[in-house]
Amino acid sequence: SSGEAPDYKLIPHRGFNLISGIHFPEVVDKIQNFDIRDSDVFVITYPKSGTIWLQQILSLIEVKGDVTATYDQQNSERFPWMELLDSQKRFDSAPSPRTRVSHLAYKFMPLGLKQKKGKVIYVARNPKDVLVSYFHFHNYANMLETPKDFDSFFEKFMEGNVYGNCWFEHVNSWYSHKDEMNFLYITYEEMIKDLRSVVEKITSFLGKNLTSQQLNDVVEHSLFKNMKNNPQANYKDVPAIMLNHQLGEYLRKGTIGDWKNYFTVAQNERFDEVYQQKMKDIPLSFIWDI
Ligand code: A3P
Repeated sequence: SSGEAPDYKLIPHRGFNLISGIHFPEVVDKIQNFDIRDSDVFVITYPKSGTIWLQQILSLIEVKGDVTATYDQQNSERFPWMELLDSQKRFDSAPSPRTRVSHLAYKFMPLGLKQKKGKVIYVARNPKDVLVSYFHFHNYANMLETPKDFDSFFEKFMEGNVYGNCWFEHVNSWYSHKDEMNFLYITYEEMIKDLRSVVEKITSFLGKNLTSQQLNDVVEHSLFKNMKNNPQANYKDVPAIMLNHQLGEYLRKGTIGDWKNYFTVAQNERFDEVYQQKMKDIPLSFIWDI
C-alpha cells in the first residue's frame, strides 16, 4: 500500500498463496513434522474471521481473566504465527501450553494433530463480511496489494487470488477433517451474539475451570471496545512496513452485516449462487446480519 514498503507478492506454494518476504516455502513445509504436545492449542482461521479475538480470549483464559497479566506481552508474542520464519525454533523451545495461530490450508498442518494430540479451534465468519473486512485490510496492510476498488477486490476474493486462497475451500477442507482432530468449530457471529457462552465453550474444550467472575472478566476484556483501547491486544506493535497505522486500525468495525454497505445487488446474487454450490455438502450456516 505504500511506495516505501518492500515489494510483497503472493507466491503460490503447493496450491496455496504465500506472501513473499514474509513466508518461506521451506518453513511452511516443516510444520507437518512439528512435535505436538497434548497441551498445544492452534487457532485456525481464514483471514479476517476474528483471529485476533481468539488470541485475546485464549490469553485471558490462561490468566483467568486478569488482563494486567497480559500487558507484558504483545498479542503477536504471546500467540505467534505458525507460518512465520522463526516458528520452529520458537515452537520447539517454548514452554507449555504453546498457543499458535495460522491461516494455512489443512494440508500443511502438523501430522500429530491427526493422532489427536493438541487442540484445534477453527473460527469461521460469514464470508461476505470477511470479504469486506479483507478489502479494508488490503488498503491498510502494506504487505498486501492495494485494490483498485471494491469491485476489483470482489473478483480477487471470488477467484481465491488472496492470502488464504478460496474461502470456501479453506472452511471445507478444515471442517471435513474435523473428526480426525480434537476440534472445536465456532463462528464470529455467535461470539458477537453471545460471547459469554462461546467463552464457556472454549474454556471447557481446553479443560479449564474458571469461576463465574473470571469468565466475566475474560468476556469484559475481549469486548471490541476494550480490545480497541488495549495496545497489546490489537497489533499496535506491528511495524509500519507491514501495517500502515495511519491508514486504518486492526479493530475496524467489529459487526455483522457491513457487507450490505458494499455489495451491489448483482454481486450479492452472484455470491449467493457460488455459496449454494460450494457449500452444498457442508452442514454449516451463517448469520448474515444482526
Ligand atoms: P472488521 O474489519 O469487520 O472490523 P482477524 O484477526 O482474523 O484479522 O479478524 C479481524 C476482524 O475481526 C476485524 O473485522 C475486527 O474488527 C474483528 N474483531 C476483532 N476483535 C473483535 C472483537 N472483540 N469484537 C468484534 N470484532 C472483532
